[in-house]
Amino acid sequence: MKTRIGILTGGGDCPGLNAVIRAVVKAAAKRDWETLGILGGFDGLLSPPRQRLLDYHEMDALLFVGGTILGTANKGQFAAKTGHGDVRRIPNAILAEAQRNCANLGLRALVVVGGDGSLTIGQQLFEQGLPVVGVPKTIDNDLEATVVTFGFDSAVASATDALDRLRTTAQSHQRVMVLEVMGRYAGWIAVEAGIAGGGDVILIPEIPFRYDRLCQKILEREREGKTFTLVVVAEGAREQAGEYVTAGSGEANREARLGGIGAVVAAEIQQRTGKETRVCVLGHLQRGGPPTNFDRFLCTRFGVHAVRLIAEERYGQMVAYRPPDMVGVPITEAIGRLRTVPQDGDIVQTARCLGISFGD
Ligand code: F6P
Repeated sequence: MKTRIGILTGGGDCPGLNAVIRAVVKAAAKRDWETLGILGGFDGLLSPPRQRLLDYHEMDALLFVGGTILGTANKGQFAAKTGHGDVRRIPNAILAEAQRNCANLGLRALVVVGGDGSLTIGQQLFEQGLPVVGVPKTIDNDLEATVVTFGFDSAVASATDALDRLRTTAQSHQRVMVLEVMGRYAGWIAVEAGIAGGGDVILIPEIPFRYDRLCQKILEREREGKTFTLVVVAEGAREQAGEYVTAGSGEANREARLGGIGAVVAAEIQQRTGKETRVCVLGHLQRGGPPTNFDRFLCTRFGVHAVRLIAEERYGQMVAYRPPDMVGVPITEAIGRLRTVPQDGDIVQTARCLGISFGD
């Protein structure tokens, strides 16, 4: 019987998941291994397990297809995060069932493609005895131990494109346009797209803002004859001493769903400055569609390196990008704490040197 490995995608989807699956299947096939895709995220490991053999030839067109052919979930029995990022221990019976089913399926190892939450589950499965290797996915780019996660570059590209489009309509109508982007508790998407898209104000969770400061920036622009303003707001941004703005009432065993801060900020700007203001919530457009060329390249390297880690039996490790190399690092190094935008780092300084306001 051939050596058999498994792969699953967990958490929110993002561009590049299929590119990783393709690279894993192809690199495994080169070693004469077969790859079993676990369907529907971690829940696919519960009895009866849901899986299918991934055919080498099926992988041809997958490089640029968004989403995940395996399906995914960011809720259910395997939710490892609740509230605002609190870690939940998955019940032992569930972990044991998943481990048993992997053994019954004949898996030598399981590749877990996921962000903070999914890699936390992966680590718990590893501690239960399952040979796990991780691949860092998330548009939020908030994982430690790797300089970048895949999906992030594609999300920044979507947000930058949105800003390019908002600029012309803002300019035509002499309005303030507020763009709300994702990113949970990290402002990476907001700050990188904000700079790349020529934003004037960028509000991020790392730098709590004040309305008087951000409105001051808008009025200053007016005085300079710049009668429109682009404001980029990360969904996790909040006022100094303020609360996160969440969407819905929140479900049990699920992380709080951030969202709505853009509308709150837009209303406050209009009321304080008298400038006509509109809001655009980019939402899941940031997660759909084809990966950028950078993400395709990164995903391919991540997938190939994950197979290399399995060949070397380096379980409990995650593939990490440390330019110019791909390396293996303990999963625990990636999930210990969130990687956020350094408040006084070069990126924020660069923005400030351009006159971009963080509303502080
Ligand atoms: O973690 C990825 C992410 O897109 C976050 O940026 C966002 O807060 C969340 O997932 C949205 O999740 P859902 O798809 O459940 O609305």
